[in-house]
Amino acid sequence: MPKKIIGFSKLSREEKIKWLSKKKFDNSIDLKLILDRYLNTNEDIQRIHDSFSENSISNFYLPYSISPNFMINGKDYTIPLVTEESSVVAALSNAAKFWYDKGGFKSKINSFTKKGHIHLSFNGDFDIFKNFIDKNRLDIIGSADNVTKNMKKRGGGISSIELIDKTSDLNNYFQISVDFDTSDSMGANFINSCLEVMSEKIKDLSNKYEYFKKNNYEVNIIMSILSNYTPDCIVEAYTECDINNLTGIQDIEPEKFAKKMKYAFEIAKIDINRAVTHNKGIMNGIDAILIATGNDFRAVEAGIHAYASSDSKYKSLSECSITGDKFRLSLKIPLSVGTVGGITDLHPLVKLSLQILDNPSSKDLMSIVACVGLAQNFAAVKSLITSGIQQGHMKMHLINLLIKNNANSDQIIKAKQYFLNKEINSSSVKDFLKLNR
Ligand code: MEV
Repeated sequence: MPKKIIGFSKLSREEKIKWLSKKKFDNSIDLKLILDRYLNTNEDIQRIHDSFSENSISNFYLPYSISPNFMINGKDYTIPLVTEESSVVAALSNAAKFWYDKGGFKSKINSFTKKGHIHLSFNGDFDIFKNFIDKNRLDIIGSADNVTKNMKKRGGGISSIELIDKTSDLNNYFQISVDFDTSDSMGANFINSCLEVMSEKIKDLSNKYEYFKKNNYEVNIIMSILSNYTPDCIVEAYTECDINNLTGIQDIEPEKFAKKMKYAFEIAKIDINRAVTHNKGIMNGIDAILIATGNDFRAVEAGIHAYASSDSKYKSLSECSITGDKFRLSLKIPLSVGTVGGITDLHPLVKLSLQILDNPSSKDLMSIVACVGLAQNFAAVKSLITSGIQQGHMKMHLINLLIKNNANSDQIIKAKQYFLNKEINSSSVKDFLKLNR
């Protein structure tokens, strides 16, 4: 009979581990020993990590990598990345190196507004409700003054509020859409706090509003939350060069490479199967830098994929064009990121990542992230249309298999040579190790 555990979060770390050890492993393994190996020996650092999440029983490691030779808007960057996918950093570094002396990557911020919404129901029509909002607009915005005062000092705040009639989609449904500038923070807490106090104010004012009382109109606040769809917070990254400069890519002629690349990008524009995978390649780089800089990659993923379907058809996010002798790649995405707040001031490696990036503003980080996405995209499609993706992947897979089978450094060197033209799989690697003890 399954039994629910009550008060689990109140147990000490040791008690939680004991409970898990009994429940899932029947105490057959030394769970504490395994988990303790991943604790930080510095108690202060461990305390910081424990504070990020409830019920934390250890730390979960992923590689922390760097990719050098990134030229972005004329500035040389080294990019911090966190990813478990073995070929991502190698591919990205190759792409950065390839574009470095062709001028690197460039970017521009097209817009910088984030939105939040108060979702509510109202049993009257739009004009009546709009009248109420217009009369009380200053009071409603002013109710968030306590929350916005620090943000205003940093150049941010609430820029506008607008009532939106959604009654044709859902009975009595209205939205109050609020525009925010969150300066260098991603701003989720700020936006949500503003929306919550503003919705309290709307409730309060509407309860006292004589016209509503007289006519039995009622405002019912359903919820108040930021939107992770950020089509008004857009960054564009691009890179270009003369077609003649597309040299050193396997044995393929520059012009043939350029045309094949363009065709591959066109496939991703019209075919959803390819579009999703093409965009996944972009996200390989974007997520890795977002994690390294302590940003909410789930929010960015959700927003970017919604943007990819904004024409009611899911499409690739990047473009490849050939104009005369010029080859150009570009990527336009919504990106809401922060360089202050959240865990940026807490996580020691996030702080380090931001230092490695010369402490960027959030607009700088938008630019860097978009360029990383474009570089990763170029690297992936370049491999796909030339050697195929498996060559690079299998090289990393070989190392993983060798390490899993406790190969020493001598065996690893020999294996790299031996497997150049051979099938790499678990049993072929085991056979190799047996013969090369
Ligand atoms: C693998 O993680 C990413 C790729 O599939 C991206 C792509 O197909 O463009 C290689």
